[in-house]
Amino acid sequence: MKIPVIFAGGVWDRSDIDHYMGLGCSGVQMATRFIGTQECDAPDDFKDRFLKATEDDIHLTTSPVGLPGRAIDNKFTETITNGVAAYKAQEAPKTPIIPIAKCLNCLQHKLCDRKTIPYCISEALLNSVEHNTDMGLIFSGTNGYRINEITTVKAIFDEIAV
Ligand SMILES: Cc1cc2nc3c(=O)[nH]c(=O)nc-3n(C[C@H](O)[C@H](O)[C@H](O)COP(=O)(O)O)c2cc1C
Repeated sequence: MKIPVIFAGGVWDRSDIDHYMGLGCSGVQMATRFIGTQECDAPDDFKDRFLKATEDDIHLTTSPVGLPGRAIDNKFTETITNGVAAYKAQEAPKTPIIPIAKCLNCLQHKLCDRKTIPYCISEALLNSVEHNTDMGLIFSGTNGYRINEITTVKAIFDEIAV
């Protein structure tokens, strides 16, 4: 049985695509590069964080359910980083690092236990696209700093198409 493998993570240009296809992948997934397009429906202040980011501004951060996620540094990531040791030292029910205004039930309670999460990921993601980019979780791939202009999906496809 042939199982197609789609590579994801850090794919930016034609040479990246050729590299992973050459290794035998059936395709690639690209996310971050398309944030720098007019078609991306995130607001300008969200895209602006990418335009201003340098390579040193992108780090792994902890999601509420313990999985790593890469994000652009801001007041939100600083708050989480500074608060995580004290947060972990508490016994359940823990006081979150950032108080949770309202649970939106985005995850099953067995996956996201309200008594043991340091912050609400829905709230953090919504902040990032509702003009509170300081306190928003701005997910970014490793190449987020390479967004230096807002272009179009067509221009990117024209560049990467064979
Ligand atoms: C802004 C943003 C939001 C994302 N949200 C999700 C998500 O909700 N679930 C998920 O599985 N992956 C998510 N990803 C990861 C992408 O689906 C993708 O696997 C990864 O970003 C690919 O690497 P690249 O961004 O370097 O192209 C997100 C990525 C970005 C940049």
